[in-house]
Amino acid sequence: MNQISRRCALITGASAGIGKAFAELFAAEGYDLVLTARRRQRLEDLARACRERHGVEARVVVADLADAKAPQAIFDELAEAGVAIDALVNNAGYGVPNAYMSTTWQQQADFIQVLVTAVAELSHLFLPGMIERGWGRIINVSSVAGLIPGSAGHTLYGGAKAFLIKMTEALSHETVGTGVQVSALCPGFTYSEFHDVTGTRELVNQMPERMWLTAEEVARHGYDAVMADEPIAITGGIYKFYCLLARYLPTGLARGMVRRRSGEFHAQG
Ligand SMILES: NC(=O)c1ccc[n+]([C@@H]2O[C@H](COP(=O)([O-])OP(=O)(O)OC[C@H]3O[C@@H](n4cnc5c(N)ncnc54)[C@H](OP(=O)(O)O)[C@@H]3O)[C@@H](O)[C@H]2O)c1
Repeated sequence: MNQISRRCALITGASAGIGKAFAELFAAEGYDLVLTARRRQRLEDLARACRERHGVEARVVVADLADAKAPQAIFDELAEAGVAIDALVNNAGYGVPNAYMSTTWQQQADFIQVLVTAVAELSHLFLPGMIERGWGRIINVSSVAGLIPGSAGHTLYGGAKAFLIKMTEALSHETVGTGVQVSALCPGFTYSEFHDVTGTRELVNQMPERMWLTAEEVARHGYDAVMADEPIAITGGIYKFYCLLARYLPTGLARGMVRRRSGEFHAQG
């Protein structure tokens, strides 16, 4: 796989939602794919569909990113197979619902491993090859939650997503002139399996229709943003407006608004 004529994209969390939409988009744009997540059958089905529909190569690497050894194992497997990664989409993610002290430390440690450490390590592993070849793209799927004040419930989520934004901004400076471009993609509420996995489906179903994005529009926005070298990309007019408000309102006022509304979208028990 990975003939010289075609670039290759590695997408984490490709078995559902935004990651699946990224896989379909990169394949439609002519990239070979490496798809990773824990659910093998889903990845195999998606790989087959992308091969048939778009004539690209698609490889499946099953990995649990909560395992600290997973990023290096993914890198080693691809290096051994001679697969060079040109585009990396760090997308895998979920939320840990409820208040901090009603969760176990293991839940939180796994969360940090998947949403923060694995993203930082995969970027560290794949960036040198991109720089050496003079071309690379990294999309870190963050969230509007990383740009607004922290809310009650899902305690580390906003901090993890803010980490990705700052890390991406820093890398965008460090990669100037290398041919590598990086973007932190910040969507708001998106139709996917996220809220089922997190157990907040009933809660968020009450959000008005105008608040929702599709996984396909989020992926398209992320793809266009990284190609245009935009370090931070907020998806959707309504979310751009909220982020502006969060930035320019007096901090206490913005924090108070989030505190009052946390219960509408986060499980806080
Ligand atoms: N949906 C939203 O409203 C929303 C808003 C802003 C940002 N985001 C972000 O968008 C990203 C994608 O979420 P989504 O909405 O598409 O959710 P989703 O439909 O639940 O998909 C999450 C993906 O992450 C993978 N994943 C979860 N834990 C994993 C682990 N331990 N190891 C490897 N893969 C793992 C899942 O695959 P397996 O279960 O097969 O492993 C799945 O493919 C996340 O980073 C999320 O924080 C979502």
